[in-house]
This record gives sequence, structure tokens and C-alpha cells, in this order.
Amino acid sequence: MSGVYDDPWAYELACSFRDVPAEVEVLLGWCAEQGLAPRTALELAAGPAEHAREFARRGLAATALDLNPRMCAYAAREAEKAGVALEVVEGDMTRFALGRRFDLIATMLDSTSHLMTLDAFVAHLRRAAAHLSPGGLYVVEMSHPRDRLGDDPSVSTGWTVERDGVRASVRWGEPSDRLDPVTQIADDHVTMTITGEGAESRVVRDVVPYRFWTATELDAAIRLAGGLEVAAQYGDFGAGEDAVPLADPEAWRMITLLRPR
Ligand SMILES: C[S@@+](CC[C@H](N)C(=O)[O-])C[C@H]1O[C@@H](n2cnc3c(N)ncnc32)[C@H](O)[C@@H]1O
Repeated sequence: MSGVYDDPWAYELACSFRDVPAEVEVLLGWCAEQGLAPRTALELAAGPAEHAREFARRGLAATALDLNPRMCAYAAREAEKAGVALEVVEGDMTRFALGRRFDLIATMLDSTSHLMTLDAFVAHLRRAAAHLSPGGLYVVEMSHPRDRLGDDPSVSTGWTVERDGVRASVRWGEPSDRLDPVTQIADDHVTMTITGEGAESRVVRDVVPYRFWTATELDAAIRLAGGLEVAAQYGDFGAGEDAVPLADPEAWRMITLLRPR
């Protein structure tokens, strides 16, 4: 069965509620605040690699890594179409060995929810640490713990987006998708209904396992991995006076900046 990640175009459309250039601007703003002017960037679990492509557009030497060959092929094709240089690597974020270091590494949109065990998370952080330049930053964007632990989740599981006359109605998770209280894993049922491509609408369905990580588990994984320490944490994309602390009531993401210890 083909899933949501096997249809990169539909996945990118579904995620087009984001303003990727604005997010990249903030990522680079945080780098500047940490005294870093990155020249090389690596996006992990990059999917269509929208952030890596934006880094490349801004002149960074950019690399994107993903496990899914269709995502990799799509990212490479879109970069070529846009006329930007992007290196694309098919690989696992817990095992990759690229033989060089990067000034900035980023894992966006809760892709660490695909790390199902503490061992996998620790292995991932060790790989990231091994690929980070001295003085570099690893930025990990995760969902805010309030979404799973609070009474009032800040993120809706249903949304609609429209781009170039094509509309996607997305449901990422159903009320019946309960988090297993022992494993902290939920089987999220995903449905994307795409209309406007042609005569008929198309429905993409999938079940995507989601591992919920708390803030304290993240802290423990960082300490277990060694080699990295927290430089800053934010609750949304905002730098300087627009920065949103993780504990702010308006916070809706858990974004952690890690630097080499
Ligand atoms: C939610 S998508 C996020 C894609 C991208 N980060 C974004 O912001 O749109 C998660 C991606 O993680 C990839 N993935 C899952 N497990 C992975 C692993 N172990 N190593 C590398 N990529 C992985 C999937 O193929 C998928 O493209």
C-alpha cells in the first residue's frame, strides 16, 4: 500500500500551511544570535526538503536526507526545477554517516516522532552530534507537549489548504487514535482528500505511527547521547523580540537548539 510519504507532492501540498521561507529566516536569525553564520546545512528526515531547498536558495551548501526514496527523488527534482543545488541522500536518521560536518542541522515538523524508542532517539542524536561542526547548531522542531498532555491541544488535527487551484482537506489523527500509555505511541489515521487536480477527487489514506516525546524525555535523551547541550528552546518560530518561550501560553511547538558540548 502506498502511504502519505509515498506521495511527496500531496504531502507537500498538505503541509503548505507553513511559511517555509519565514521559518528559514527565523532559523538563520537564531543562528546569528548564537554567533553562527552557517555555510553548510543538513536537513534530516527532510521529506520534500522544503527547508533544505530554501537554504540552498539562500546560498548555503545544502543536503537533504530521508528514508523514503520517493521523497528523495521528489526533493531532487524540485531543487533542479528551481535551479538550486541540493545534495539528496537516501538514509536513516539513526545510522547515517556522511563523512563530513555541517554548520547547521535541522529536523523539522516533528519528524523525531518517527523515532519509536529511546535507543533510536539516542542513536539519532549521536549521529547528529557526529555531523555538527564545532560552533554549529542542531535545531529540532517537535510538537508542543501540551498537544498530548494538556486538556486543550494547541494544534488541530484537521485542516484545509489550497495551492494553485488544488485543495487538500487533511485529517492527521482521529479522536479514536489514542496514545498507548505504556509505549507513548499512537497509530495516527491520516486522510488527505485532494480536489481540483482533474475531474475527480483523490483520497490518500494511511496509518502513521507517532511516538510522543515529552520535554523531560528529550532532555534525558540529550544527556544520554552526550556530545550535545541545549543552547536555547522556543515555543514558536520567532527570533529576537518575537521569541516565544517554550513555557509561554502561546507556545505551540517545542523547538530546541543544540550545540556541541
Ligand atoms: C512528517 S514528514 C516531515 C518531512 C519534513 N521534515 C517536513 O518538514 O516537511 C517525516 C519524514 O520523515 C521520514 N522518515 C521517517 N523515518 C525516518 C528515518 N528513520 N530516517 C530518515 N527519515 C525518516 C519520512 O520518510 C518523512 O519524509
